[in-house]
Amino acid sequence: MWLTPIVVGCLVGCLATAALGYKSCAAEKQCVPSEQCNEGLLVDGHFYPDRSRTMLDEQCHYMEKCCNAHDTLPAARTLEGANSWQCGGRHDLWYYLRPWGYKQQEAKFGEFPWLVAIYGSDGYLCSGALISPRAVLTTARCVQNESAEELRLVAGEWDAAVELEPQPHQSRAVAELLLHPNYTQTPVAHNIAVLLLAKESSPFELAPNVQLICLPPPQMVYNYSQCYVSGWRRRDFGGSETLPKRWTLYALPRDQCMAKLRLSYLGRRNSRNDTLLCAGGDKGDFVCGDGGMDGVPLMCPLPGHDDRFVLAGLLARPGRCDGPQLLGIYTNLLFYRQWIDQKLRERDLDIRQYMV
Ligand SMILES: *[C@@H]1O[C@H](CO)[C@@H](O)[C@H](O)[C@H]1NC(C)=O
Ligand SMILES: *[C@@H]1O[C@H](CO)[C@@H](O)[C@H](O)[C@H]1NC(C)=O
Ligand SMILES: *[C@@H]1O[C@H](CO)[C@@H](O)[C@H](O)[C@H]1NC(C)=O
Ligand SMILES: *[C@@H]1O[C@H](CO)[C@@H](O)[C@H](O)[C@H]1NC(C)=O
Repeated sequence: MWLTPIVVGCLVGCLATAALGYKSCAAEKQCVPSEQCNEGLLVDGHFYPDRSRTMLDEQCHYMEKCCNAHDTLPAARTLEGANSWQCGGRHDLWYYLRPWGYKQQEAKFGEFPWLVAIYGSDGYLCSGALISPRAVLTTARCVQNESAEELRLVAGEWDAAVELEPQPHQSRAVAELLLHPNYTQTPVAHNIAVLLLAKESSPFELAPNVQLICLPPPQMVYNYSQCYVSGWRRRDFGGSETLPKRWTLYALPRDQCMAKLRLSYLGRRNSRNDTLLCAGGDKGDFVCGDGGMDGVPLMCPLPGHDDRFVLAGLLARPGRCDGPQLLGIYTNLLFYRQWIDQKLRERDLDIRQYMV
C-alpha cells in the first residue's frame, strides 16, 4: 500500500469517530469533550493533560478540545474514592473548564457539587441542595404548586444547555414532597421543603460532581465573611449556555440582621426572629429582584476549614437592591435542623452524613 502509517491512523480514527459525530476542527483533528483528549506532556512518568486553549479550540464548544483524532479516548467516566468524601467537601478538578469570556459570576463545574436543579411540569423551577443521597432541601415557595410526581431532581448538572461535562449528571424522580407544616406564602414564613426519593428507586450516587453539603450544627457561629450563593436562574434556560450563577456574600451577624428585618420586613412586633438570616454583598444582577432565584443555597465555610461548606440558608425572598448594598433574606437552616432530622429519621435515612 502507498498510504503512510499516519494517514492510515487518521483514516481509522476518523472513520471510528465520524460514527460518533465529532465535528472536524482541522486536518486530522476533531472537537471532543476535554477529558477525552489525551494530549499533554509526560514529565517524570506523570501525564499532564494540555489544558491550554488555542485558536483551533475556539472552533469547538467551550467544553471541548480540538484534539488529534488518534489521541481521542473513549468516553470512560469513572473516578474512584468519591464515596469517602465528607459532607461539604469538594475537589477543584475542573478549574480549566470555563466558557469563552468567562465571568466571575458563574460557578465552575464541580464547584458546588451539592447543587441540585429542580424541574416541575413546566420545566426548571429552582435550585436546591443535596443533604443525603435521598433528600434535597429547597424553599416551600418553589415547589408549593407542584405534586411530587411532577418533580424531577438533577444533581451534578452544570451547563444545563448541553451534555458535554466530564462527569454525567444524575436525574431522579421525587416520591415525597414535605412542605414545612407552618409555611405561609404571605407573609413568607417557614419557607422550607424536603424532597425525598422513593425507597425503591436508586439514590444519588456520590461522585466528584455529586456530593452532600453539611447542615450547621446547633449553636454554630458562621465565619460571616466568605459565603456564597449559587444556583441556576430561570430566565437563563433556553439559551446556548445555562450555567449556575455564583455570588460572594457575607452573612450579617444576628443583631444586625434583626435590626434590618425590623425596619424593612417584619415590622416592630417581630423584633426577635431566628427563622431568618440576612446576607449582603455588592450589588449585581444576581439576587436582585425576582429573577427566578428561589431557593438558591447560601453556603458558608465550616469554621476552621476553608474548603468545607455548611448550608446556612435558602433564599426566601428576592434580594433588595434599592439601598446602598444588596440584602437578601434567607431561611435560617439552624432553626430547622430538628425538623429536618426528624423527617429523615422517620424514613430511616442516615442523618450523620450531613453532620459535621
Ligand atoms: C401558586 O399558585 C397560587 C394559586 O394559583 C398562586 O397565587 C401563587 O402565586 C403560586 N405560587 C408560585 C410560587 O408560583
Ligand atoms: C408549627 O406551629 C405550631 C404552633 O405554633 C407549633 O406548635 C409547631 O411546633 C410548629 N411546627 C413545627 C414543625 O415547627
Ligand atoms: C418568627 O417569624 C415567624 C414567621 O413570621 C413566626 O411564625 C414566629 O412566631 C416568629 N418567632 C418569633 C420568636 O418571633
Ligand atoms: C474567616 O474567613 C476568612 C477568609 O477565609 C479568614 O481570613 C478568617 O481568618 C476567618 N475567620 C475565622 C474566625 O475563622
